[in-house]
Amino acid sequence: MKIAVLGAAGGIGQPLSLLLKLQLPAGSELALYDVAPMTPGVAKDLSHISTAVKVEGYAGDDIGAALTGADVVVISAGVARKPGMDRSDLFNINAGIIRDLVQNVTEFAPKACIGIITNPVNTTVAIAAEVLKKAGIYDKRRLFGITTLDVLRAETFVAEQKGLEVERNSIPVIGGHSGTTILPIFSQVQYATWDKEEIVELTKRVQNAGTDVVNAKAGSGSATLSMAMAAARFTQALVRGLQGETAVECAYVEGNGEYARFFSQPVRFGREGVDALLPIGELSQFEQEQLQAMLPQLKADIELGEKFVA
Ligand SMILES: NC(=O)c1ccc[n+]([C@@H]2O[C@H](COP(=O)([O-])OP(=O)(O)OC[C@H]3O[C@@H](n4cnc5c(N)ncnc54)[C@H](O)[C@@H]3O)[C@@H](O)[C@H]2O)c1
Repeated sequence: MKIAVLGAAGGIGQPLSLLLKLQLPAGSELALYDVAPMTPGVAKDLSHISTAVKVEGYAGDDIGAALTGADVVVISAGVARKPGMDRSDLFNINAGIIRDLVQNVTEFAPKACIGIITNPVNTTVAIAAEVLKKAGIYDKRRLFGITTLDVLRAETFVAEQKGLEVERNSIPVIGGHSGTTILPIFSQVQYATWDKEEIVELTKRVQNAGTDVVNAKAGSGSATLSMAMAAARFTQALVRGLQGETAVECAYVEGNGEYARFFSQPVRFGREGVDALLPIGELSQFEQEQLQAMLPQLKADIELGEKFVA
């Protein structure tokens, strides 16, 4: 299994590469690519860790070598938020970066599964889909927006608030990955009883968690370490699926279009990427209202991406 990380020298890319070096199955290959000239050095550094995962680093124009033969491509290349920005403010720079990187994937790794971290995820995934479509190789089972960080946050916050063991919770977070399009389904948490105000507050806390990190980092970046962990968890699950094992995580994928063309929901991974879309389950009245209210924004975000490539 070969995994390529694009944006590998960045705030997310470096710890993500470290986690993958530690966690990928023995015999895997890790290819690190970034425009930053330091990237072969990041790979050299990681290569001294004694696990059976081979690491190579590529910079500048060397993207073809990084991508050739990749089964999975994880993309965190692009700019991150500063205080006062929301994720849509990143569109002007990141849209072009995603378009060009995915264009390279069509050329060098046309069968790869692609996981996109770069924001605004609601839109960058739509851009990637259109680039793949134009190249005639779009397979919706192989394209994912990585929304696992929202799940991590929901799991952590609910455990804190309810005094639960954090490992025992698995909380679906549906919709998209920005503001009110992030919808944790707390009503499905077992072992806890809720009053409505608590759920409203906790939902807002998950929706604003990224901004809280941006503000706390005071202008020097957004979530990187927790995001690296989230992307590693997603990548591990995808790799397990590709190897024929069972694995389930929420991800932002093109589903059956019931709510929007792209929608985050629980996904079972298999040998071809998405093996099955799992139901979102029963929603409380509050969650149903939130879902309906988010759809115009989510659809507009998707359309922006579609139009960017058209
Ligand atoms: N999906 C999520 O939940 C989530 C969470 C946090 C951050 N993000 C997003 O992840 C992205 C990366 O964040 P970060 O903190 O790592 O940023 P960063 O600025 O620290 O790193 C970005 C890296 O991308 C590289 N890069 C830029 N253009 C490139 C290109 N064309 N090809 C290859 N590499 C390129 C840069 O050299 C840099 O090393 C941002 O868009 C951020 O908003 C997503």
